[in-house]
Amino acid sequence: MQLTEDLAVSITFIDEKIEDIIMRTDNLRQAVKWRLCRYAIENMLSFLEEYTGSHLQKEESHMRIYDYPQYFFHKEKHEQFAARMLALKEEWLKIRTSGSKGSYELSVRTVQTVIDWLNDHVMQDDIKLADFLRKKRPSAG
Ligand SMILES: [Fe+2]
Repeated sequence: MQLTEDLAVSITFIDEKIEDIIMRTDNLRQAVKWRLCRYAIENMLSFLEEYTGSHLQKEESHMRIYDYPQYFFHKEKHEQFAARMLALKEEWLKIRTSGSKGSYELSVRTVQTVIDWLNDHVMQDDIKLADFLRKKRPSAG
């Protein structure tokens, strides 16, 4: 019973995170367009740090609990994305250390990296995972 309740929360959590990352990516894309990205990049990188450190681990724990068949494939994609995000964050920290608030070029690359992530993983693998978890629910039709 407890697992079922947790599962319902996890599906909602995945769906909400998909909406959240799409909205934030669009906000940063708009900031790049209007050349205001130096003010938005810090927020986005902080969000992505929390996302890779917490959200992806939640997905992985639910994949393990419910014996998701594509666990290792899915987890490997998470690790690759986390490594890319860490590299972007390190670049940003160097830029900050040099006295600048941000970088147009780094913001553009961050937007492109997240759009690729949305297309290659979130809109495919995460949606498959959410569908799998929905089917695991006893009440799912
Ligand atoms: Fe995922």
